[in-house]
Order: sequence, then C-alpha cells, then structure tokens
Amino acid sequence: MSDTVMEVKGLTKQVSGKKRIVHDASFVMNKGEILGLLGPNGAGKTTTIRMIVGLINKTEGKVFINGADLDKEGLACKSDIGAIVENPSFYDYMSGYKNLQLYARMSKNPITKERMDEVVELVKLSHAIQDKVKKYSLGMKQRLGVAQAILHKPALLILDEPTNGLDPKGIRELRDYLRQLANQGISTLVSSHLLSEMQLMCDRVVIMEKGKIIDVSNISSLSENGNSDKLIVSIEVKKEHLQQTEQVIKMVDGVSIVKQENDHMFILEMNQNLVPTLNRKLVEAEVDVYGIESKKTSLEDKFLALTSEDNVQMKEGQ
Ligand SMILES: Nc1ncnc2c1ncn2[C@@H]1O[C@H](COP(=O)(O)OP(=O)(O)O)[C@@H](O)[C@H]1O
Ligand SMILES: [Mg+2]
Repeated sequence: MSDTVMEVKGLTKQVSGKKRIVHDASFVMNKGEILGLLGPNGAGKTTTIRMIVGLINKTEGKVFINGADLDKEGLACKSDIGAIVENPSFYDYMSGYKNLQLYARMSKNPITKERMDEVVELVKLSHAIQDKVKKYSLGMKQRLGVAQAILHKPALLILDEPTNGLDPKGIRELRDYLRQLANQGISTLVSSHLLSEMQLMCDRVVIMEKGKIIDVSNISSLSENGNSDKLIVSIEVKKEHLQQTEQVIKMVDGVSIVKQENDHMFILEMNQNLVPTLNRKLVEAEVDVYGIESKKTSLEDKFLALTSEDNVQMKEGQ
C-alpha cells in the first residue's frame, strides 16, 4: 500500500517578531500507515498539527488530503480527517453514548446506530458506554475521543500526544486499536515526545526539532528486530590524531559520521562488515586507536544523536 493520504509541503508558521516556530516542514503519509511526529517539547508538533487541521492559519506551505488542496477544498478535505488536538471535552453528566450521539448529529452524513456500536466496540468501551462520562478514567475518555474522531469514517486520524496521562495498559490498548484501524486502511498521524512509545506504535517517524524536520525514519529498518545490520560505532583515538581519523573515515564508503564527541571520539553509523576495514585503514594511517565499540542502531540512538545540543551546534557551525 503506497497511496498517499496526506502530503504536507513546506509548512511554515511565523509568529510575531518574525520567529518561525515551524519551518518548511514536508512529509507524506501513506494509506494504512501509522506515522509518528516525534520531537522534544517545544519542537513544533502541536503547531504543525493545528495548521494541518485548520485550527490556526499557516504562514506558508500546502496540505493535500487525498490529493485535494486543503486551502481550496477545505470542507471536502476535513470530512476525511478525524482529529483530537486538545484533550477532547465531553459532557460529564451524560453517558458516553449520549455524548457520541450529540456529536454524530453534527456530522454532515448521517451516522447509523450500527456505526456507533461498531466504533464503541472498536475502542473497547461497550461495557461502559451507558455510564456517565464523569465515571470514566482518563484512558476511557481518551478512547471516547478516538471513537468520536473516527465516527464519520475518516481516512486520516490525527492525534496530538494521545498517550499523555494514560497508564501503560491504556497506552498498549491505544496502540492495539490504532493498528486495527490501520488494518482497515485508516492512517494515523500521532505526535509524541517519547521515543520508546513511537518505536512501538508507528511504522515510520518524522523527527522534529526546533521547528524543523530533521529526519524521517522507517521503524523496521532501525529497530533491533529489524533486518538492518547498521551499527552505531564509537571510536576513541588519540587527541592529536583527530584530523587524520576524520580523513580516514571519509575515505571509507558507507561510513557516516553521526557526531564528534569530546576531542577524541567519533560516533559513526556503518554496516558491521565495514568495521574491520575501517580499523585496518586507521592502523595504516598510524592513528592510535584506544577503543572501538559498536552496538545495533536503535531509533533512540538516532534520536538522541540528532537532537543533542552538541550536534545541533556542530551542524549550525558548519
Ligand atoms: N502563538 C505563538 N506565539 C509564539 N510562540 C508560540 C506560539 N505557539 C507556540 N509557540 C512556541 O512555538 C514552539 C513550538 O510549540 P508547539 O508546537 O506547542 O511544540 P510541541 O507541540 O512540539 O511541544 C514553542 O517554543 C512554543 O513556545
Ligand atoms: Mg504539543
């Protein structure tokens, strides 16, 4: 399945003082995919999502939903989206079912009782749907929010930090039913500042930092269970040999420098089979190597490497 459900192109938000809190963000979402928007607090995730769902105006950029331009065909596009941006609010003194009914009445297309039941079943609230919402746990409210968002069968679901306030069991349940939705062809964009969570929940992640998208990664190619044999390798060399080391690294195809640490370490990304080659070349160049350590790449390594202060400064300094 590779049909594009959403394409975000050059999305930018500039606020007063000419500060760009989202800068030239572009990514695509495929049908039936769970895409993570991952970044530390303040990275610009909520702003990006608010622009996509039209809660705030964008300064620049385009959003296409199923090929249609959100600016030109806003209403048609919006019926394809279901979103929870802020914590969904419900009438506490009414049952979950009543709340859904009220919401259903606002829908452009009629929503049948069968559809209501189906959705309630899907979010696993059948046992409690006649209870008043004030009796619900946070996780149950969150699920009711998802039920509401998918009631009109959107092709695309957008959830901003949906696991905030959920316990591990709730997070697991959310994960399970997002997967169920994905199997039915519904794509989900889900934001989080927690990498481990994204790693379990998503097919791909878009990593955001300081308003910019700095990487798009395929989970399976990065996770330890994936079939990639990419390693993160740290090499410790004599301080005086730093420049030579860098030259040697650059000569070996397939080895990339993730970052340089302290004044005697390089963190590299490479295939396992290149470790001996690199080692040999370093010896030939008479570099004193104090240590080579390698481990499988996890998304965490990559995330930390990409968003660490050191690295940002290094990139900006280039
Ligand atoms: N209306 C605004 N005016 C100025 N700055 C804002 C505004 N809204 C958000 N910001 C800033 O933009 C940055 C990104 O915010 P946000 O999108 O909420 O990030 P995230 O959801 O990733 O935590 C933050 O530094 C925030 O303080
Ligand atoms: Mg946010």
